[in-house]
Amino acid sequence: MTTVDPITTRETAPATGAPAPSGPSATARRYLMCRPSHFAVDYVINPWMDPTSPVDAGLAVAQWERLREIYLDLGHTVEEIDPLPGLPDMVFAANGGTVVDGIALAVQFRDPQRADEAPAYRAWFERAGFEVHDPKHVNEGEGDILLAGDLLLAGTGFRTAHAAHAQLQEVFGRPVITLQLVDPRYYHLDTALCVLDERTVAYLPEAFSPGSRAALRRLFPDAILARPADAEVFGLNAVSDGRYVVLPVQADGLAAQLRERGYEPIGVDLSELRKAGGGPKCCTLTLREREASK
Ligand code: ARG
Repeated sequence: MTTVDPITTRETAPATGAPAPSGPSATARRYLMCRPSHFAVDYVINPWMDPTSPVDAGLAVAQWERLREIYLDLGHTVEEIDPLPGLPDMVFAANGGTVVDGIALAVQFRDPQRADEAPAYRAWFERAGFEVHDPKHVNEGEGDILLAGDLLLAGTGFRTAHAAHAQLQEVFGRPVITLQLVDPRYYHLDTALCVLDERTVAYLPEAFSPGSRAALRRLFPDAILARPADAEVFGLNAVSDGRYVVLPVQADGLAAQLRERGYEPIGVDLSELRKAGGGPKCCTLTLREREASK
């Protein structure tokens, strides 16, 4: 099958072009990615990983390159961190940190298999000139911590410790909303919820505790509620620039819901990386500078 954009009927357009007269508008982003040169599935730290099922490492790189190319075509900047041998999950750059207002909070992984990724990402943030803070608790970066307007949405239940949420609020000075994840298949917040723009999110209600679901309903009454079939193909592990939403091509139901709301879904096939339990968002860390006015 083709990996090129079968969801959207149009070619990807530069985000820097004139916004549509109505509907969501795009903002140029700066992303950090890590080429999956050493990608493999040889341990199990989430229910998607099965070391007995083969992975096509060459295809993983080609699929990742396509993702990177889509971002560049949309007018975004992509930085790269050097992949390290022996760290097969390092491709999932979202787990490398949380970067908001020019401040980078480094990570502490739950699992020893990923521990050595943390100092590599930390060193990258230092070199790039961010103000770096060290984590006090298990904290898996943007996998569990998503900026939505002025709020930080923070997942817990599987990876990031609840105690880490208090540190987030101190470091970033933004209100933190704790969201309790309850389904081990959706072990990181970014597998169950996607921030579409400053006001809207898409999420799978079933992945959250009753209280967290109620909180999400209050905060985002207009949210897109995803269906389990789309979440199962990592549809919510999507990257939105406010208008274009890059998501797994298999999530066609969610793509249709997005289109109805004026977003432009762009499908990408990351079948190989999915074998490690990751999708487009997992491969992408957003680097946010301090806003001049704040
Ligand atoms: N195998 C990796 C892990 O379980 C996948 C990480 C996916 N990253 C994410 N942001 N959801 O840690």
